[in-house]
Amino acid sequence: MNDHDATRLARGGRAPDFETPPSAPPLYLTTAFDIDDLSQLDAVVAGTTSGYLYTRDGNPNHTALSADLAALEGAEAAAVFASGMGALTATLVAAASAGDHILAGQVLYGRSGQLLKLFAKQYQVDVTFFDPARPGELAGLVTPRTKLCLVESLTNPLLEVADLPAIRQAIGDIPLLVDATFATPILQKPLELGATLVWHSGSKALNGHGDVMLGSVAGPSTWIRKIRGLSSLLGVNANPFECWLASRGLRTLALRMERVTATANRFAKWLSTQPGVERVYHPSLPDHPTHELAQRMLPRGSGGMLAFDLAGGRPAVDRFFRAISEAVPFSPTLADARTTLSYPAGTSHKFMTADERASYGIGEGLVRVSIGLEDPADLERDFAAALEVAVN
Ligand SMILES: Cc1ncc(COP(=O)(O)O)c(C=O)c1O
Repeated sequence: MNDHDATRLARGGRAPDFETPPSAPPLYLTTAFDIDDLSQLDAVVAGTTSGYLYTRDGNPNHTALSADLAALEGAEAAAVFASGMGALTATLVAAASAGDHILAGQVLYGRSGQLLKLFAKQYQVDVTFFDPARPGELAGLVTPRTKLCLVESLTNPLLEVADLPAIRQAIGDIPLLVDATFATPILQKPLELGATLVWHSGSKALNGHGDVMLGSVAGPSTWIRKIRGLSSLLGVNANPFECWLASRGLRTLALRMERVTATANRFAKWLSTQPGVERVYHPSLPDHPTHELAQRMLPRGSGGMLAFDLAGGRPAVDRFFRAISEAVPFSPTLADARTTLSYPAGTSHKFMTADERASYGIGEGLVRVSIGLEDPADLERDFAAALEVAVN
């Protein structure tokens, strides 16, 4: 070591500027950005010159992913977050203050419901849960204090389709926030159906490879500016590496959604005929309560999520998971490249009381399936073998 090694190392690691851009998008793993002087600082803050200051406030990987998502949703703008829950937190803080009122679908992803209950208990935001299958009753629930209505466009885990235009009509000009995680912007563009803001867990199909935590919200620029500012304040902004991975995953979203939809349509029909399977929930099936509505809300198909009731309840589910685990794992996520299983009563909806779950049809034998990219005949073989073990 000589006297200058430490200095050289501390300031090194930089390639000279070059004229040939990389074919794949670069990853900007940097906490902050170097600024020439105070006038450049003022110009970046004012937005009169392009640039970034600090990754919590913005980073080129946020910009790249947000721009793609805004274009896909047909939105003016989008923002990305550390998780779907980060996106919801920033949006709720942007939408409601103490004394305000929020309307929310009664069957939401469990943590979404839990967060709303926390807002009600700790921050004096009233929350009324309603049945999205009865949008006609919604108009009577709107008050002058109602600042937001929140629904899932395709519910977790029973795949009930929301009639977004009917909800919009019932709530007038109240902002409508739609969780379209299950549908994805390939199968549904909620902003065209009456939503104000569309929200996704990007940890799921947008990325599609089971290796990212991410969230997004898209909608009018005024809303997104406010939500993004709060995200920076709350520290729930996305990590550049997660954005880079999700950007890469997004290249194949259309292909993946087409494939899982076709497999799920075939698989749901097949599963309905299997011994021990009491009921299958997928909107492609004529006996699904929102089969007709799905034709209008999701004309390109209702995606790769389905659920089924297994005879024998929890002990049978336990046997089924053990028997199928090598081929199809019990993994409490969805929209991975491989098919995965979940148990709503013990994972996504464990934050509801058992009575609430029972009243919403989430039983002890309910298994949720997230269809992946496998050959459908292989899936049917694996399920048939495990069902035989589970029900005998
Ligand atoms: C429908 C739905 N919305 C939101 C979320 C929350 O997203 P995240 O896990 O990325 O915070 C999930 C998570 O499973 C989900 O399934």
